[in-house]
Amino acid sequence: MPASDWDQRYRQGRDGWELGRAAPPLESFWRHDARSPQPPGPVLVPGCGRGHEAALLAVLGFEVIGLDFSAEALQRAQALHTPDRPQLRWLQADLFDAVALSAAGIGSASLQGVLEHTCFCAIDPAQRQAYCDTVVRLLAPGGWFVGLFWCHPRPGGPPWGSDANAVAEQFATAGLQRHVWEPAQGSAPERTDEWLGLWRR
Ligand SMILES: C[S@@+](CC[C@H](N)C(=O)[O-])C[C@H]1O[C@@H](n2cnc3c(N)ncnc32)[C@H](O)[C@@H]1O
Repeated sequence: MPASDWDQRYRQGRDGWELGRAAPPLESFWRHDARSPQPPGPVLVPGCGRGHEAALLAVLGFEVIGLDFSAEALQRAQALHTPDRPQLRWLQADLFDAVALSAAGIGSASLQGVLEHTCFCAIDPAQRQAYCDTVVRLLAPGGWFVGLFWCHPRPGGPPWGSDANAVAEQFATAGLQRHVWEPAQGSAPERTDEWLGLWRR
């Protein structure tokens, strides 16, 4: 789906994915689980939308780049979260545009972390390999990838469904080492079938 369609969805309030806060399993992972990665970053949040997860990481002390190709989403993210948070910045770009990312200082092996939340299920499944390759390319050796994946089986999308085994295999095949892959705890009521993962490059 092109950026203009996402802009339109944001403008019209057709934003059924919006939780109005960071996803509870991610917040709980970072606040209560000793396995969660530690600051400082830099960390990329691709498809950050209104920026709730990016803001959570900034509050926890990470240097964060919230990336989205929707201007509508980023305007709201900026208004909601940016005051008094110099360690949080926003980048309007397509995740798959390596030239735009590089121009913003996000090049190969430049990141300590990537946080995924409802971007993977928003892109066409045909782009998933490119998504995995992009994450691996941008992470520094030892860098981390944390993702909350909505592994629902329904046809069509977005949100496109996925299968927990297939997701795990796809990131392993891309070259990441799995440290955590388990059913998420404390998901929002409308989000059953979520899985939480932590990988390292
Ligand atoms: C379902 S929304 C989720 C937003 C946010 N992660 C959340 O959970 O509230 C998916 C977001 O990914 C963005 N997006 C989709 N494809 C993208 C791409 N190729 N590059 C950058 N952003 C993209 C959309 O603009 C949208 O804001």
